[in-house]
Amino acid sequence: MRKTRLAVFASGSGSNYEAIVSACCDGRIDAEVVLLVCDKPGAKVLERAKRYGTESFAFNPKDYASREAYETMLATMLDERRVDYICLAGYMRIVGKVLLSRYEQRIVNIHPSLLPAFKGAHAIQDAVDYGVKIFGVTTHFVDETLDGGRIIDQGAIVYEGNDIDELTNLIHNIEHNLYVKTINKLINKKY
Ligand code: GRF
Repeated sequence: MRKTRLAVFASGSGSNYEAIVSACCDGRIDAEVVLLVCDKPGAKVLERAKRYGTESFAFNPKDYASREAYETMLATMLDERRVDYICLAGYMRIVGKVLLSRYEQRIVNIHPSLLPAFKGAHAIQDAVDYGVKIFGVTTHFVDETLDGGRIIDQGAIVYEGNDIDELTNLIHNIEHNLYVKTINKLINKKY
């Protein structure tokens, strides 16, 4: 039977990409990552993709006239590779109409907060600054808004310490397991 084909979009370190691809390799996810898309040439995630043998494509959005223009180019790549789902893993961009319309209910994101609280790029620090004690992670379908869209899974921890690095590591560990769980739900259409 044909395996589900995933594309991962990332902008940074890529620990979530690695969590996904390693789960595909060892059978915890019955799918394959067929493309890694990165909008930051030089990002660490590209080294990880090389290590795992995932085809990668890095581009600079500034080289394109508009979001529509680079998403149209990406859509062609995704079509050619018969991608079923797009997993955003630290992709620091809003997804536009071109991809959303082609991949309706087939683009997911992971965010390091209990959404809808603390959207945006500094979610963990924002939650700490607010005095939060229960931290968490959310996976959700993607819509045209920042960290918006219907929630699929959440994981939480109580943390009352004051070491942001320790907290960030704890949250990342939750993320890596949660994304595997969510992708399995997608593949089995159980959401
Ligand atoms: C993660 O915290 C993810 O939730 C957020 O961006 C971060 C990416 O980390 N959207 P990494 O690049 O996967 O290590």
